[in-house]
Amino acid sequence: MIAIGSDHGGYILKEKIIEHLSARGIEYKDYGTFSGESCDYPVYAKKVASAVVTNSCDKGILVCGTGIGMCIVANKIPGIRAALCGDCFSAEAARLHNNANILTLGARVIGNGLALKIVDIFLDTPFSNEERHIRRISEIE
Ligand code: RB5
Repeated sequence: MIAIGSDHGGYILKEKIIEHLSARGIEYKDYGTFSGESCDYPVYAKKVASAVVTNSCDKGILVCGTGIGMCIVANKIPGIRAALCGDCFSAEAARLHNNANILTLGARVIGNGLALKIVDIFLDTPFSNEERHIRRISEIE
């Protein structure tokens, strides 16, 4: 189960990602926002991060204009490892090395095609489980 959320800046891309997840048969919970009306990104970042740390969802996706605000907020919540990714290499490394559990995207920074590719890589790449990465992640906690 994937938790997904956005602010107004990420709303249209969030809807595209939801279409994409549905087409792939991936279950999701949409934590809003539900329109393009101006709203505050911390509200949605906290909802998605809570769903991930309480294990009601396996991973999260957060979209705002830049992806930065969502990433800052999500990473304040203990147990969250949110990664702002604007390229495929980073998305893969975020999973392999950092075991990132939330992907953040900047809808005003990257195009929809690249964003969906990044989503696929984020969802399909397992954590490497390599000792050095396990150790480094445990040092974060
Ligand atoms: C909203 O204008 C914008 O600040 C927000 O979407 C995001 O980019 C914040 O980091």
